[in-house]
Amino acid sequence: MARARSVFLCQNCGATHTRWAGKCDSCGEWNTLVEEGTHGGIASGPAGMKSSRKGRPVTLTTLSGDIDEAPRIVSGIGELDRATGGGFVRGSALLIGGDPGIGKSTLLTQAAAALARHGHRVVYVSGEEAVAQIRLRAQRLNASEAPVELAAETNVEDILATISEGKRPDLVILDSIQTLWTDMADSAPGTVTQVRASAQAMIRYAKSTGAAVVLVGHVTKEGQIAGPRVVEHMVDGVLYFEGEGGHHYRILRTVKNRFGPTDEIGVFEMSDRGLREVANPSELFLGERSAKSPGAAVFAGMEGTRPVLAEIQALVAPSPLGTPRRAVLGWDSQRLSMVLAVLEAHCGVRFAQHDVYLNVAGGYRISEPAADLAVAAALVSSLTGLALPADCVYFGEISLSGAIRPVAHAQQRLKEAEKLGFAQAVMPAATDEQNGDKNRKTFQPATLTDLVVRIAG
Ligand code: TYD
Ligand code: MG
Repeated sequence: MARARSVFLCQNCGATHTRWAGKCDSCGEWNTLVEEGTHGGIASGPAGMKSSRKGRPVTLTTLSGDIDEAPRIVSGIGELDRATGGGFVRGSALLIGGDPGIGKSTLLTQAAAALARHGHRVVYVSGEEAVAQIRLRAQRLNASEAPVELAAETNVEDILATISEGKRPDLVILDSIQTLWTDMADSAPGTVTQVRASAQAMIRYAKSTGAAVVLVGHVTKEGQIAGPRVVEHMVDGVLYFEGEGGHHYRILRTVKNRFGPTDEIGVFEMSDRGLREVANPSELFLGERSAKSPGAAVFAGMEGTRPVLAEIQALVAPSPLGTPRRAVLGWDSQRLSMVLAVLEAHCGVRFAQHDVYLNVAGGYRISEPAADLAVAAALVSSLTGLALPADCVYFGEISLSGAIRPVAHAQQRLKEAEKLGFAQAVMPAATDEQNGDKNRKTFQPATLTDLVVRIAG
């Protein structure tokens, strides 16, 4: 008989290794390999139990007409429902990840209370806090009178036994996946094997009963506890709750969604009474704008289906260093290098002797290439010391040749800008969806040089 070999699992990415190493080959993290028994430690059932059951495939065409839409449980918290694509889906599992202390438990307590008030059976299982602590938080959130069932348990089998009593739950929240452990696995709680096996058991529960299951996962940089990444592929949806240190707002970002779009965000503000929805994020990110200072340009961006305006600030200053500094907050540093290179190569704007700092106001993070034009405008404005018009928005992608490329949703961006009092726009030349607006002053440069000339005169 073959000797039982132990395996080493990376606690960060879940990769299996046959021997210990300081660094995981798969994800490149250090000190994340932990020995976890044989076969990854998941019991495969009593010997001889492996029976082969026959399944019957169905044809796709016979399914049509039966299923219209995924049945959803709407929380009534608009920003949360937006991020989930219209509410929690029955019979599905959702992972909500984020740094410790970002507000995951707060958000889910509020959602649980809202649903319980509307007659849904909601069970909140916490492996991190005692029932008294959860109740204390609920009191602070004005949610203590909602009939949410609380349980402080960490063993999956116990949890399943608890929630199986009485009426079938509509929503089960497990806070957090890292505290769960199942009898089916023999490793310590918090390890990849336990996290995976526990998640699997809860997902199976969701599929078989039709309850919506929400798993909370802490993101850890040290890899001490298995990150939510190891369950990402098992669940139906993944949301990340993010926030910038020192800012009160939080963004719920959809990373994966089998039942809806993945580019939606929900925006919240943390107050002393819990999370408040922010229905108009533009007002938040534009914040306290100091009009008429050089180096500031307002970008008309999109987050999923929603337009979001944000201010981009650039500081270009003479550099005493041989190799000038380039520092970016809230945008991609590679794209900044690209915009700088295009400005130098095609527009004759020199940054070689200058330090360049770029910041997106309010701690917001932009991922759209459409911000190129706003970044270029802010850079040129700071270099020349000439302020941009305070009532103007910018959007458009810049190609390596210096041409301005069209971007999607021009009309929506313009509409949002107008709503917030911006009268001018610098944008790519007319696209199909854009049909000339007489009232608004728009400037549509064909190349980046046209924009530089307009700003610098
Ligand atoms: P929490 O939801 O416990 O974070 P997580 O579950 O993601 O670890 O939130 C913790 C932080 O939120 C904590 O620093 C206190 C703060 N907070 C508020 O500012 N207002 C509130 O009403 C609540 C409940 C928490
Ligand atoms: Mg928590």
